[in-house]
Amino acid sequence: MVKVGILGYGTVGSGVFEILDKNSNIISKRAGQDIEVKYVLDLRDFPGDPAEKYVVHDFSILENDDEVKIVVETMGGLHPAYEFVKASLLKGKNVVTSNKALVASFGTELLQIARDKNVNFLFEASVGGGIPIIRPLQTSLAPDEIDEISGILNGTTNFILTEMTENGSDFDSVLKDAQAKGYAEADPTADVEGYDACRKIAILTSLAYGKQLDFEDIYTEGITKITDRDIKYAAKLKAKVKIFGSSKLAGDKVSAMVAPKLITHDHPLYSVDGVFNAILVKGNMVGDVMFYGQGAGKLATASAVVSDIMEASENLDNNINVIWSDEKLELMPMDEVVS
Ligand code: HSE
Repeated sequence: MVKVGILGYGTVGSGVFEILDKNSNIISKRAGQDIEVKYVLDLRDFPGDPAEKYVVHDFSILENDDEVKIVVETMGGLHPAYEFVKASLLKGKNVVTSNKALVASFGTELLQIARDKNVNFLFEASVGGGIPIIRPLQTSLAPDEIDEISGILNGTTNFILTEMTENGSDFDSVLKDAQAKGYAEADPTADVEGYDACRKIAILTSLAYGKQLDFEDIYTEGITKITDRDIKYAAKLKAKVKIFGSSKLAGDKVSAMVAPKLITHDHPLYSVDGVFNAILVKGNMVGDVMFYGQGAGKLATASAVVSDIMEASENLDNNINVIWSDEKLELMPMDEVVS
């Protein structure tokens, strides 16, 4: 039996609780042991909710309970997520997170602590919601040099652009809908300004090339300047506006950016609509591999978190993380990328 503590009972945290409960039979069988929630840390109480009896308000209860072997960070934001995750790793606990802001900002340090402590810091859900991409990059695609990673990496903006294209909906009301559906970040600026997709490209690039890429250095443009006219103009050209993220190897440098792009009807990303994401990886041996699925939302994202919980449960005292070094990956200047 492995005991888990969940930090944050919001959209993703409550999804993790639900999956561990509803799919407990499958999960126990495949993980080879039962996985049970012992605590749910949140500022709120949840009267009448199945998680009610597990709720605690003090992180030190989880931190100091040696029975808790896996800490699941689904609170989002940088602070106190960083402090809680670091303290958990230093206590020799495995940590699983869906928090891309945390991984993009502090991943290098947290991966190193996990390695030093012989535990794991796993973050499959931090990129692409329910789409398996972090683990495949570290396992199935490990023999290849990765030449390019690109695609649609944010569900909220793809949902907004799709609704604007197909139903002529207005930006603000679709954004509210995306928030109500649990797709958007707590502060949706991260989605609509492209910061969320930028962090995801930084994480994938750092993993693929084994060196740290600072997300702040990546040219990033969101969808706030996209108008109804742009959408209609794209349709005339048999194209769609999509927010596109890419990272390409160029010698020992990398060119990376996030920006809206016209995707023509013959492009594999043209029919990736709504909350769906698609990530294209070019390996120098395997060729093109495309990963497609629901890129945001409660159960899709929580499913990826639970896959990491299961992986951690099988490797509690055995670091299996592929880590990236603190050596900086150099970015090509934008004028060289464009020319
Ligand atoms: N806000 C994110 C998105 C959630 O819309 O893609 C999943 O990372």
